[in-house]
Amino acid sequence: GPELAAVVAGGTVDVLDFPKPGIVFKDLMPLFGDGPAFKRAVDGIIAHQSPFDVVAGVEARGFLIAAAIGYATGAGVVPVRKAGKLPRPAFSASYALEYGEATLEVHKDAFVAGQRVLVVDDVLATGGTAGAAIDLVEQAGGIVSGFSVLMELGFLDGRERLGKRPVHALLTV
Ligand code: PRP
Ligand code: MG
Repeated sequence: GPELAAVVAGGTVDVLDFPKPGIVFKDLMPLFGDGPAFKRAVDGIIAHQSPFDVVAGVEARGFLIAAAIGYATGAGVVPVRKAGKLPRPAFSASYALEYGEATLEVHKDAFVAGQRVLVVDDVLATGGTAGAAIDLVEQAGGIVSGFSVLMELGFLDGRERLGKRPVHALLTV
C-alpha cells in the first residue's frame, strides 16, 4: 500500500547520468542500509505473495532481497547469476538492458520439477533482466509463482514483457 511505497521512496536516491549520460539511476542502497525500512520492505514482499517453495534472486542486488526472504520464510534461495560465475552446467539467457547488454545463467539442476519459485529483484525497468530470469527459472523446471520488486519504473513498460505472470512492486514510479 501507500505506506510501503513511501518507505521505498524514502530509501531511494536518484543519481543523474549514472552509469551513462542520460540515465537516471535509482539507487536503493539507502533503503537496504536502514534496518527497519529494509525489514518492512522485505516483509511487504512476503505478505503480498502467493505460496512458493524457493526464492530466486537476480545478481547482484536481487541477491540481498532473496536471501532475506529465504531466511524469513524458511524457503531455499537460488541465485540467477551473471554469465561465467556458475561452476556446473547452466542455462543462459541474454537480454538488452536499459544500458548495455548482459547474460544471466542458472544451474540446470537448480529446481525440482514443479517447484514454485518466487523471483525477486530490486528494480523492474525495461523488463529485460526479469524476462531472462523468468525464462531461466522455467527452463530449469520451476513454476514462477510471481515476480516481485521494490520499485517499478512504470514508464518503461517492463511489465508488458513478463506475460501473465503476477508482477508486484512495492512502489511504481
Ligand atoms: C539493474 C537492477 C535490475 C535491472 C533492471 O541491475 O538491479 O536488475 O537493472 O533493469 P531492466 O528491467 O531494464 O532489465 P544491473 O544490471 O544494473 O546490475 P546489478 O543488480 O548487478 O547492480
Ligand atoms: Mg540488478
